[in-house]
Amino acid sequence: MIGRLNHIAIVVPDLAAASRLYRDTLGANVSEPLALADQGVTTVFVDLGNTRVELLHPLGDASPIARFLERHPSGGMHHVCYEVSDILKARDQLKAEGARVLGSGEPTIGAHGNPVLFLHPADFCGTLVELEQV
Ligand code: CO
Repeated sequence: MIGRLNHIAIVVPDLAAASRLYRDTLGANVSEPLALADQGVTTVFVDLGNTRVELLHPLGDASPIARFLERHPSGGMHHVCYEVSDILKARDQLKAEGARVLGSGEPTIGAHGNPVLFLHPADFCGTLVELEQV
């Protein structure tokens, strides 16, 4: 069902410091910060060639990652994103297997303009999983 690892998302308390770390210390290709108001995050993309790391920082009062940062003040890995070719088919198959889909269960448009869904971490080895249709 799942294909490539599209990205790994890491929540960070200081986006500029995290960008410097990935660019200067790790020598990676790092984008400028991009504010995604409707997602409630500001993101920096780290392009690794075969996949990406997304550095996320809360944007606005209703940010979905604000609580994560409260619980993990120095930041931490937030989710992994796997590509699927048909997100509704994947969702229905996963639900039939007993997996829980977060939110309304309907795909929303994610940070890359593609339909996404999130799966309950308790059903996937303690890891929040995002599915993105590409
Ligand atoms: Co993501």
